[in-house]
This record gives sequence, structure tokens and C-alpha cells, in this order.
Amino acid sequence: MSKEFLADIPKDKKLVVELGMGDGNLLKLLSEKNQDYYFIGIEKQESYFNKAKYNIKSQNVKILHTLFEAVLPLFEDNSIHKVISVLPDPKYIDKNYKSNWEILYKIIYKKLVRQGKFILITEITNELFQPVSNYEFYKEVENLKQIFQSIGYIVLTAFEGYQENYTTSFLQEFNGDPKRIRIINFEFTKN
Ligand SMILES: C[S@@+](CC[C@H](N)C(=O)[O-])C[C@H]1O[C@@H](n2cnc3c(N)ncnc32)[C@H](O)[C@@H]1O
Repeated sequence: MSKEFLADIPKDKKLVVELGMGDGNLLKLLSEKNQDYYFIGIEKQESYFNKAKYNIKSQNVKILHTLFEAVLPLFEDNSIHKVISVLPDPKYIDKNYKSNWEILYKIIYKKLVRQGKFILITEITNELFQPVSNYEFYKEVENLKQIFQSIGYIVLTAFEGYQENYTTSFLQEFNGDPKRIRIINFEFTKN
């Protein structure tokens, strides 16, 4: 992955990076509303990337058709104001794959500016895809909190559901089964 895209980031704008942006709906809304920020969206699937390319017209956005693990190391340390990850694939959040994904969140931590934010909105499901009890839900939330805290993140908020201004196409779909797919919204920061 070439570093060329880094040269396009205006020095006077704060940088926001969205991982796995899907069809780019969220990036479209955020970039239109926040002209003081520069947005980079990363998506590996060509059909989604093409949809995003078609949807997003703002000048303050760059979308990349590649793997986010190939892009993240290219940013300078302490250079990103916000990283957003909405409904990452299980490979990047499920406890069974923790040894693979922990490194990704360590890299993100290094790349964030101090007081920068990492918004992680993820689903908690039951292994048999039965309704998720409160006990299971909060146990998993605690588990995730501990992992992120052990990397260095500070938990600013952790609540069930998600902030409306981070609504995405997948979130709208997942909303249809709230007992079996419970959503947790984390806001982490770096000291
Ligand atoms: C469950 S979807 C969520 C999409 C979007 N965030 C939303 O909420 O509508 C996960 C997305 O991450 C993308 N993705 C998964 N692994 C990726 C990677 N390593 N690099 C870039 N994109 C990835 C997938 O192609 C998919 O579009």
C-alpha cells in the first residue's frame, strides 16, 4: 500500500478514519456535516467500495479500497483524531480471535492523538443465537472493557444501543432482532 494518500490530508483539518465503512452511508453524513474534519474510509469489498464511491461527493473524504491493517501502520503516531468502527467482522472483535485482533487495536492506540477517540459499536450475540441474557451481555461488555483497558484505552462511555449520529446500513438491519443481537457502543480515549 502506497503512502501517497497521506499527502492529500489537509494540515488544517482533523483526521477521522472509518474502518470497514461498508456502503459509506455514515461517512457521507459525517463528512457533509463536519467540514473542519478530513475523513478516510477503508473498505476491502469491491461492491461496497463502489457504492461508497458513488454515494460520497464531499471533498473532505478519501476512500481506500484495501485492508485497514495495511493502511493503519502508515499513519504517523499521534495523528488521527477519531477512529470509527461500526460492526466489525467477528475476526476483528470476537474473543475467539483475540490473539489476532489485539494488535490492530494497539496500532490504533498509537496512531490516535492524545484525547483522540475510538468509537467501537459492536454486537453481542449468543453462541447458539438465542436471546442474549443481561448476565451474558454485561459479562461480555466487561470482558471487552478489560481488553481495551489493558491496551491503554480509557473507557469514556459504554452503553447498550448506539448514538444516532453513527447509524449505518448494517446497524439498521441488525436492529430488527434486538433480543438476539444486542449492540454495545464504546467510546474510548487515549491519555
Ligand atoms: C459488518 S460490515 C459493517 C459495514 C459498515 N460499518 C456498516 O455498519 O454498515 C463489516 C465491513 O467491514 C469490511 N471489512 C472487513 N474486514 C476488513 C478489512 N480487513 N479491511 C477493510 N474492510 C474490511 C467488510 O467488507 C464489511 O463491509
